[in-house]
Amino acid sequence: MQVKLKELQVSALSAVAKIDSLKSLEDLRIKYLGKKGELTAILSGLGGLSKEERPLIGKISNEVKSAIAAALDARWAELENQEIQQKLASESIDITLPGRRIPAGRPHVLTTTLAEIVEVFRGLGYTVADGPEIEDDFHNFEALNIPPNHPARDMHDTFYLDDGRVLRTHTSPVQIRLMEQGVLPIKAIMPGRVYRCDADTTHSPVFHQVEGLVVGENITFGDLKGTLELFLKRMFGAERRVRFRNSFFPFTEPSAEVDVECFVCGGQGCALCKNTGWIEILGSGSVDPNVFQAVNIDPEKYTGFAFGLGVERIAMLKYGIKDIRLFYASDLRFLRQF
Ligand code: PHE
Repeated sequence: MQVKLKELQVSALSAVAKIDSLKSLEDLRIKYLGKKGELTAILSGLGGLSKEERPLIGKISNEVKSAIAAALDARWAELENQEIQQKLASESIDITLPGRRIPAGRPHVLTTTLAEIVEVFRGLGYTVADGPEIEDDFHNFEALNIPPNHPARDMHDTFYLDDGRVLRTHTSPVQIRLMEQGVLPIKAIMPGRVYRCDADTTHSPVFHQVEGLVVGENITFGDLKGTLELFLKRMFGAERRVRFRNSFFPFTEPSAEVDVECFVCGGQGCALCKNTGWIEILGSGSVDPNVFQAVNIDPEKYTGFAFGLGVERIAMLKYGIKDIRLFYASDLRFLRQF
């Protein structure tokens, strides 16, 4: 029995050493030390021993038992520790990797161009107004002295809604809405989105305009000239010459288009200015008395001027952008240049 016990110890210890999971180690513990385990089986023969042998075998079996238990415990601790190390290794975050930079967003070039325009006029004491993008015929055309069948309607390539309303073709209807409120004097700019059924490298079906309107007593064409000259020099440089050219708009009389000296060739003539030395920037004029009448303002008492410009056009000229579609394509290579 003594031999059996020693053999048991040897085989148990070598089995323990080979185990590499906590689960099978537990199975092993049951196999050797459990109630129905091998040690118990050997000790069941204890009754057949002599009185003298029994204490000796008892002592040896206790030693074997604690030797196996100790080996099991030690292996248990080892495996548990291994498991923790593995878990730590697999879940650890390698903080030595360089971080990824989150790219900073920035305002769109149209936003900054518009902000620049607004800033100049705010400095001159203008307020900022807006109006709906879906307009009725009255505000978009009729009140602006563009009656049905007027050829100027063709210039606008209008998008019509089924109910006869339109996507506004310019920001001028906001002048009408402002004047309808009847609070005079008015000194406001009206930036916003406008729509025309037209698309190529310099025309987009949706684009942005800024309209300006000044109404009061004794407002003259001289005021218009001074204001726009100052605005254009702020936008394009104080050294640029500005010229006013006779033109026509149904809602202004007299009307003028305003040109800036070409900033590529400085007036010498080049591809941008089509060899004229000048670049057309905006439309303007004194408010037509018919427009005042449409909104019940007395044209004998009040005068005013209005102007309208395209934000895309100004940004294209300022930054030498050749294709209007670049503004809306969300191409980061384009956007990041500004
Ligand atoms: N509404 C005109 C357009 O869109 C621009 C303009 C506004 C011209 C005000 C003169 C005065 O073409």
